[in-house]
Amino acid sequence: MSSLTIVYISLSGNTHSFVTRLSDYLNANYGLSPRLINIKDLRHETFSLSEPFVAVLPTYLEGGNGLDNGDQEILTTPLGDFIAAHNNYQHCFGIIGSGNRNFNNQFCLTAKQYAKRFGFPVLDEFELRGTSRDIERIAEKILQTLDAFTG
Ligand SMILES: Cc1cc2nc3c(=O)[nH]c(=O)nc-3n(C[C@H](O)[C@H](O)[C@H](O)COP(=O)(O)O)c2cc1C
Repeated sequence: MSSLTIVYISLSGNTHSFVTRLSDYLNANYGLSPRLINIKDLRHETFSLSEPFVAVLPTYLEGGNGLDNGDQEILTTPLGDFIAAHNNYQHCFGIIGSGNRNFNNQFCLTAKQYAKRFGFPVLDEFELRGTSRDIERIAEKILQTLDAFTG
């Protein structure tokens, strides 16, 4: 099995909790120890990644309704900058969006916008910290997509 890197950003801790529990699940069930990169810790530093990675992105938007008027990404742009830098996007095999369903049409919208911008698929979505069922489902999806990506 290939190695796995998970690149994410977490401002209030929900995504960090999800990624840590996902990593524990992958370790317990598949013997994988993913490399975890929290973009918040990098303080806008970027570096080149040469291994396949999956991105996990919470949604922080200001304004707009997610349909026909402008919305502004706030707080999470350092993840987009990291993916764009050094052509890192070429090694990204998919993105997982997170958010809160109270935001209706804007639920997980930024992950969809990144998928369009960089040309990788949205693999799945979850709400807040995610449930254990989210973790199991998303772990399987990540492994299947990683396998297909690395051939
Ligand atoms: C100012 C603000 C704006 C948000 N905007 C959205 C949004 O547009 N769509 C959405 O699905 N969730 C939205 N959320 C919910 C967050 O994406 C959600 O709480 C997420 O779990 C935060 O992840 P984190 O704790 O890892 O930072 C917003 C939260 C805040 C505080």
